[in-house]
Amino acid sequence: MSVLSRQQAEGTNLGFVTLVSIVAAIGGLLFGYDTAVISGAIVFMQQKFHLGPGMQGWAVSCLMIGAIVGAGFAGFLSDRFGRKKMLIVAGFLFVIGSIGSALPATITEFVWARIVGGIGIGISSTLVPLYIAEIAPARHRGSLVSLNQLAVVIGISAIYFVNMWVANLGSPTWDIESAWRWMFGLGVVPGGLFIILLLFVPESPRWLERHGLGDRALQILTRVNGPTRARVELSEIRDTLNDESGNIGLLFRPGFRVALLVGVVLAILQQVTGINAIMYYAPEIFKQTGAGTNASLIETVITGADNLVFTLISLWLIDRVGRKVLLLIGSAFMTVSIAIVGYAFYTGNTAGPLVLVLILVFVAAFAVSFGPIVWLVMAEIFPTSIRGRATAIASVALWIADYAVSQSFPVLLNSVGASSTFWTFGILSLVAFIFTLALVPETKGKTLEEIERSWGRRGTQSTSTGR
Ligand code: BGC
Repeated sequence: MSVLSRQQAEGTNLGFVTLVSIVAAIGGLLFGYDTAVISGAIVFMQQKFHLGPGMQGWAVSCLMIGAIVGAGFAGFLSDRFGRKKMLIVAGFLFVIGSIGSALPATITEFVWARIVGGIGIGISSTLVPLYIAEIAPARHRGSLVSLNQLAVVIGISAIYFVNMWVANLGSPTWDIESAWRWMFGLGVVPGGLFIILLLFVPESPRWLERHGLGDRALQILTRVNGPTRARVELSEIRDTLNDESGNIGLLFRPGFRVALLVGVVLAILQQVTGINAIMYYAPEIFKQTGAGTNASLIETVITGADNLVFTLISLWLIDRVGRKVLLLIGSAFMTVSIAIVGYAFYTGNTAGPLVLVLILVFVAAFAVSFGPIVWLVMAEIFPTSIRGRATAIASVALWIADYAVSQSFPVLLNSVGASSTFWTFGILSLVAFIFTLALVPETKGKTLEEIERSWGRRGTQSTSTGR
């Protein structure tokens, strides 16, 4: 049977749910845009506001402080008020942040505006994967949720071009006075679009059912899965919700404890294996290998394209091959490639294309594995009644780790040197491999309720064996 006729027989409306997922994934675009926009703006801002190294670091990283706060509140607020409403709030915060970062008279005003935008990013980074996971049919959940990661990567690549384009529009004096303002201000366009389009998507059926709005939940599930499957899903959702207190203490029960550990540790490992040392500092790294400014910028753009292509490949593989296998293959390649980068710096053999090729391998390996899959797993492994709050805990951990790596990377390069820094990433990638092998479950093709029950079973097993 062809894919289309199989979908028709099952009544799955993949077109509708894909459209809804794309709208939500614009949140990912804002995430990519906002984390990367600073890379092109900071040089001009440094001259405009006469920033020393400390203030410069703060201007870059204050966004993450906002994101930590936003991710922290996203869970509780979305469990209470709904996923859709909180995504709209995130859109408004992003727009306010964009306008505020475009207009400041002082660096303090700028920092406040970035923190507001960062809160929006923290909320949307947590809720977009979760919202899509809660609405998607199990068989396609992996690729639909990973549309978010694709949008993050598109956002990062798009802003590199926007920055380059804006910087070329005027004189050097105009750049220092105004170019950076446009770089931030243009964020209003995707931000505004996000808010408007969100008005047309439905609320998460799982959230509706939990809040006593079963009729509306059934309507949406029917639209996504067809009437027969929708009724089965709704009754499964009801059964699992009936078993849950909705209390966050649920996470400390034997089975769910492991889920919490998996979510938080994967979130931290996604960051401490070093992706953003490359995403945020790529031109610096390439310069250290002896490349000129221009060559290092071109190499950075190639890295972005590599990230994009392999994220697309991941989208295709994720529901076919499964999460765990991809995480294992990805972390294995990340370990080897980044360890050899360390060795190249250790021996001083960095001339030629070797470091670039290895970094491309590292980014490709991340893009098929830890990039999309960590956000996906964080959105699918927790119980429905507390999913928002539990995912938020992992998301806060991820943003703190992101902050720590991006703050410490330049310091590490100058203190312990490039080889030890990259070897540390190598060791942590190996830890990621071992951790995945030992503890990460395969969630491919299972409904969220089946995943939830499997943790329950683990808990019963470990209690009965006295572990
Ligand atoms: C990570 C970001 C990273 C991006 C790069 C995302 O999954 O959370 O920190 O910059 O991937 O593609």
